[in-house]
Amino acid sequence: MLTFQNPAISLKNVTKIFGEQTVLDSLSFDVERNKITTILGFSGAGKSTLLKHILGIMQPTSGTIEVLGKDLSTLGKVELREFRRNYGMLFQYAALFDSFTAEENVGFPLKEFTKLSKEDIHKRVSELLISVGIKEESFTRLPSELSGGMRKRVGLARALALSPHIMLYDEPTTGLDPITTKMVNNLIVDTAKNHKDREMTSVIISHDVRATLEISDYVAFLDRGKIVEYLPVDEFKNSDKELVQEFLKL
Ligand SMILES: Nc1ncnc2c1ncn2[C@@H]1O[C@H](COP(=O)(O)OP(=O)(O)OP(=O)(O)O)[C@@H](O)[C@H]1O
Ligand SMILES: [Mg+2]
Repeated sequence: MLTFQNPAISLKNVTKIFGEQTVLDSLSFDVERNKITTILGFSGAGKSTLLKHILGIMQPTSGTIEVLGKDLSTLGKVELREFRRNYGMLFQYAALFDSFTAEENVGFPLKEFTKLSKEDIHKRVSELLISVGIKEESFTRLPSELSGGMRKRVGLARALALSPHIMLYDEPTTGLDPITTKMVNNLIVDTAKNHKDREMTSVIISHDVRATLEISDYVAFLDRGKIVEYLPVDEFKNSDKELVQEFLKL
């Protein structure tokens, strides 16, 4: 199991019980700063639950979760809301606001969380959209007028609006065609690279092995609420755990 000196995220003995079901089982897990870490696992393993604990939208039954050196359980409601500015999140289906244009979608967090002027928001939104490869002619389109790949780009631009230190990707490539998958992969890598100087840690939750192995620095395997393997990507491919090899063959 990997541990790090000064991890971006650190879970210690985290247990989450729903009714009779133990979904996270005394799970301990460190995420290295400025790297891309993927958490793989079968459906129902507890991946989304783990992600919600990292985001602080779900509290553990027991155990501690530290993000950027802060124990999340010590934060009040208001502090937690403020702390969430550190996170950017790209959802599986981009989760854009349907009645907002691309521009309005990306501007939303800036309007909500900053005191920037209209002009400054407009400027920042244009930069963000251009940086993810959206051309000016598409700025005023609604999500329904964009392709799936473009929606992902707009979703990423919105996630990046507040310059997060932790980027979380939930199934970023699941259900996409191979070309769009490649595009999203490149986008994740470029995003991590472009933000390295001001610190960005990327965590990907996925069951798409091939897509994520190519771009990850570290890979963890979650099974029944426990991290059963956690290695640098090249070593992960040669894991001697039967379950991991089974998963890799899928
Ligand atoms: N709010 C909840 N209340 C009760 N049970 C829950 C809740 N959230 C998740 N679970 C249960 O926890 C288990 C793990 O769910 P989770 O969504 O974390 O899995 P997952 O690994 O993300 O799966 P998938 O790959 O299908 O998205 C499931 O058995 C689910 O039914
Ligand atoms: Mg899930």
